[in-house]
Amino acid sequence: MPTVAIYPGTFDPLTNGHVDIIARGARLFDRIIVAVLVNAEKAPLFTMPERLEIARTVFKALPNVEVDSFDGLLVDYVERRGAQVIVRGLRAVSDFEFEFQMALMNQRLNPHIETVFMMPAEQYTYISSRLIKEVFALGGRVHGLVPELVEHRLREKGAKKS
Ligand SMILES: Nc1ncnc2c1ncn2[C@@H]1O[C@H](COP(=O)(O)OP(=O)(O)OP(=O)(O)O)[C@@H](O)[C@H]1O
Ligand SMILES: [Mg+2]
Repeated sequence: MPTVAIYPGTFDPLTNGHVDIIARGARLFDRIIVAVLVNAEKAPLFTMPERLEIARTVFKALPNVEVDSFDGLLVDYVERRGAQVIVRGLRAVSDFEFEFQMALMNQRLNPHIETVFMMPAEQYTYISSRLIKEVFALGGRVHGLVPELVEHRLREKGAKKS
């Protein structure tokens, strides 16, 4: 049976940290589904269609990477997609507490699903979507920290606002 992994997140926007984790996942699992969370709580900078289009474009050369959106309970989505694994990225100790809590809750909700944690390459360990947006909004350089397409889209957003 092929092993299918789900990598859930907001991806607002996709960073090179995410890209690194997805590329590692694509080598490890038969298929990895990047699941973009419809997050009603946060007001995202990029709309759902924009986030989907960016991720689909960035991964179009990797045939075993799929990009989808999801809403509701993650374990239900994992089951619906016939997946067995949840992939999460760990940057620093600060991610650990929340991720540990989520993994154990998901284990309780569905003991057949495993959460697998992956570390990005060292140079991406400090990148978060929030920090990228903050630095970009203040005029800082984000080159090399996000895919070129994201850099381009950030510039377009910036231009539209001003
Ligand atoms: N640079 C990175 N290296 C490794 N894992 C990462 C990195 N950035 C995010 N992740 C992981 O990717 C998953 C999805 O994260 P998410 O979409 O919340 O990104 P984020 O960068 O944390 O965004 P935000 O700043 O909005 O919280 C989480 O498991 C998160 O820990
Ligand atoms: Mg986060």
